Amino acid sequence: MAEQVQFTKLCLSIVVVIYALITCTSAADTISANQTIKDGETIVSPQQTFELGFFSPKNSTKRFVGIWYKRISPGTVIWVANRNTPLTTTSGELSLTLDGILVIRNATGGVIWASANSSAPPVKKPVSQLLETGNLVVREETGGNPENPVWQSFDFPTDTFVPGMKFGTDFVTGRETHFTSWKADGDPSSGEFTVWIDTQGYPQLIVRDGSDVKFRGGPWNGERFSGEPKLRPDSVYTFGFILNQREINYHFDLVNNAAITRVTIQPTGDFERLLWIETRKQWLLYQTPQTDNCDRYKLCGAFGSCNINNSPACGCLKGFEPTAPDQWNVADWSQGCRRSTPLDCGPEEGFIKYSGIKLPDTQKSWFNQTMNLDECEVVCKRNCSCTAYATQNVTAGGSGCLLWFGELVDIKTFAENGQDLYIRMPASELAAKGKSSGVKKLKIILPVISVLSVILASVYIFYRFKKRKSMQKGALEEDNEYHAGNESSNKDDLELPLIDFSVLRKATANFSDYNKLGEGGFGPVYKGVMEDGQEVAVKRLSRTSTQGLDEFKNEVITISKLQHRNLVRLLWCSIKGAEKMLVYEYMPNKSLDSFIFDENRSNALDWPTRFHIINGIAKGLLYLHQDSRLRIIHRDLKVSNILLDHDMNPKISDFGMARSFGGNQIEANTNRVVGTYGYMAPEYAADGLFSIKSDVFSFGVLVLEIVTGKRNRGFYHKEHSNNLIGHAWGLHKDGKSLELVAASLSESINLPEVLRSIHVGLLCVQQRPEDRPNMSSVVLMFGSEGELSPPKPPGFFYEKTITDNTSSSTFEMRSTNELTITMLSAR
Ligand SMILES: *[C@@H]1O[C@H](CO)[C@@H](O)[C@H](O)[C@H]1NC(C)=O
Ligand SMILES: *[C@@H]1O[C@H](CO)[C@@H](O)[C@H](O)[C@H]1NC(C)=O
Ligand SMILES: *[C@@H]1O[C@H](CO)[C@@H](O)[C@H](O)[C@H]1NC(C)=O
Ligand SMILES: *[C@@H]1O[C@H](CO)[C@@H](O)[C@H](O)[C@H]1NC(C)=O
Ligand SMILES: *[C@@H]1O[C@H](CO)[C@@H](O)[C@H](O)[C@H]1NC(C)=O
Ligand SMILES: *[C@@H]1O[C@H](CO)[C@@H](O)[C@H](O)[C@H]1NC(C)=O
Ligand SMILES: *[C@@H]1O[C@H](CO)[C@@H](O)[C@H](O)[C@H]1NC(C)=O
Repeated sequence: MAEQVQFTKLCLSIVVVIYALITCTSAADTISANQTIKDGETIVSPQQTFELGFFSPKNSTKRFVGIWYKRISPGTVIWVANRNTPLTTTSGELSLTLDGILVIRNATGGVIWASANSSAPPVKKPVSQLLETGNLVVREETGGNPENPVWQSFDFPTDTFVPGMKFGTDFVTGRETHFTSWKADGDPSSGEFTVWIDTQGYPQLIVRDGSDVKFRGGPWNGERFSGEPKLRPDSVYTFGFILNQREINYHFDLVNNAAITRVTIQPTGDFERLLWIETRKQWLLYQTPQTDNCDRYKLCGAFGSCNINNSPACGCLKGFEPTAPDQWNVADWSQGCRRSTPLDCGPEEGFIKYSGIKLPDTQKSWFNQTMNLDECEVVCKRNCSCTAYATQNVTAGGSGCLLWFGELVDIKTFAENGQDLYIRMPASELAAKGKSSGVKKLKIILPVISVLSVILASVYIFYRFKKRKSMQKGALEEDNEYHAGNESSNKDDLELPLIDFSVLRKATANFSDYNKLGEGGFGPVYKGVMEDGQEVAVKRLSRTSTQGLDEFKNEVITISKLQHRNLVRLLWCSIKGAEKMLVYEYMPNKSLDSFIFDENRSNALDWPTRFHIINGIAKGLLYLHQDSRLRIIHRDLKVSNILLDHDMNPKISDFGMARSFGGNQIEANTNRVVGTYGYMAPEYAADGLFSIKSDVFSFGVLVLEIVTGKRNRGFYHKEHSNNLIGHAWGLHKDGKSLELVAASLSESINLPEVLRSIHVGLLCVQQRPEDRPNMSSVVLMFGSEGELSPPKPPGFFYEKTITDNTSSSTFEMRSTNELTITMLSAR
């Protein structure tokens, strides 16, 4: 009986599989010769990524044949066949002729679009196929070179560049590919804007508006386009550029197929790289070469240079002056600059090096890929119309030669990844450079500044000393208990800035509930206003709390010696009998957790602000670990301990648990493990071992929480029981990090920065402390664009149970033994 049931089940599943196979193959990816696809029918690529058929854009009734993403974003069309000859009814047909030509016919059978002329090369048995890349090809059904189809849509792009496409010129066939924007959002017909690899002179990327140049990505320098300093391979894609006798082509490839990206010239003329974020069902801007006003072609005219950080942005290159000063002064820079001293092509002429720039327009240029820079200079100097030279290929220390003739236009200055350009100058300018007036001025100013600062500093120190003494006197007369009952060195305590209790009582309206900001670990916190109007936060150690006394002293001693813009500043402390109080600068925006975990307020925290906060915390922590006089381990870094000032600058607070280390000590052991679940490094939670690397771990958790807007602890996912760290690591391994991005991050998001932050966060939470970077490396990683090593598995990424909800509260255990029943386990 049981066997029979088994058998029936088996048969059923076989039937299901066969059915699935039939339905699968019925969604064909090919059009065979003489076959017709009617409006309403489609063909689908083998893995269901792309679909080809008839469509109408938004707000339009016109019918077009196009290719779009099938599973994701069905409205996103990457290619349109008959963009300029739309059908007006839904009775159009697409077919493949016996000659291997794709044609679109209208209701009366008139051909409104064809893939090729009758002069196309003969095909014996043609078939058309939609490939997984989104490429529609016509090829021989059997035999034939799959790399070289008879016809392919990738050779005739619309406005979208997808991985696998080549962009450039094939000198053998004479075919040039370029992109043309849609006319408007709902109108695929050819718009104003086109993108080219221009081959006049040395090849460069340009965006044209009609026949005018709108934007120049600049010449390829071996690593990237000169005008796109941020272009570099990352965890999403790589790219390449081929330049030889046969072809010039630029292409990009995905690092793995998990990410979906396209590059599109928008109807507005913006050339954008977009990335599909599956969790948000949305395309987000990943990168664009057009970042600021300086990207407007020729904005500063000939021999002008644009720097967006200057005001005005345009300036003349050194040795040049405005051609039309009156216009120049009213921000009309179109006339550009001219030489202060004209050239005469004499033998004394030479070159001045300008650094950090986007190379000028290469329309009138010449190049040689084998010459070196010295040979390049010789060749340029020999020809009087040669105005500048540069290295053609910056990879591997630089090689090749690039020469410019005539005016130099469209130069921009970059803070990072700019290039060197050598500009021809008359002998007089070269001489002036040697005894530059700039250097002289500096020599005079420097001593003056240093003398002044010494004077100012002494005055300040003297003043502070006096003020502090008088304050301490007042407070100490009132209460001596603090010193009497204290075993730690009195010398430290003497540095404490004390304040009178009555002053604080007045400032907080007698600690009224109205002024209460919240309840900290050891008692309530009040807002106060001092007599001079200064706003402060007053932390009152609760009378009943005996355990807090050590932390109180610890915090006072630790923080009174620290000063950094990313640490909350302790202004005063006060002791009167059992009353102990700490007075801090007031932080109007409260703590970070009140933003990122709050559905409404998290919207106020756009990506630039989040990135600013992450960077600030990193700098504050670096100061604690390394730059302050003491080496301080915070031990309780978490989102609720990050306060935000008026300008959303982050300030690390709550030094109750902090420990300072002597000179070379890097690690310590405690049998009193304090910290917060979800932020504690494994070696600390399990063995009580803490070091700067356990703070780095907590910092990593913080970064992931800020990026995702989710708590590490209590993180829930329907498919697994990993915590946030584990989830992030899993996605990172699969190249899907972007799925982590907080739903509330708006269009302002900078995807390369987000990816980098997640990557750095994962490096910080690695299982082994020695694998984690120190904070100085972390700060460098955020500030530069160098490659990051792949993270090893994180510690504590699996949570067996979540039994309590004290996720953000500070807990404490007096013995390490108790920790054997830890709720977390490393896998
Ligand atoms: C192509 O299709 C037409 C019309 O459907 C038909 O008359 C013709 O015989 C077909 N040719 C071949 C070679 O199948
Ligand atoms: C489509 O029409 C609606 C209403 O007429 C309008 O709000 C919307 O902007 C249009 N969309 C496009 C893409 O033109
Ligand atoms: C179909 O196309 C032909 C050729 O382009 C044209 O002459 C004819 O008017 C079109 N018919 C319809 C119904 O659009
Ligand atoms: C068709 O042939 C003409 C002349 O040979 C040529 O100018 C045109 O570009 C060709 N069209 C296509 C789609 O190949
Ligand atoms: C630049 O140089 C590298 C090797 O140094 C070479 O592989 C690459 O093809 C060169 N690129 C160009 C555009 O010359
Ligand atoms: C480039 O320079 C090298 C060395 O000076 C020379 O041999 C070669 O012919 C030059 N190539 C071109 C295309 O001018
Ligand atoms: C200088 O270069 C220009 C442009 O390449 C060329 O037309 C001209 O003949 C050269 N002059 C000399 C003297 O080599």
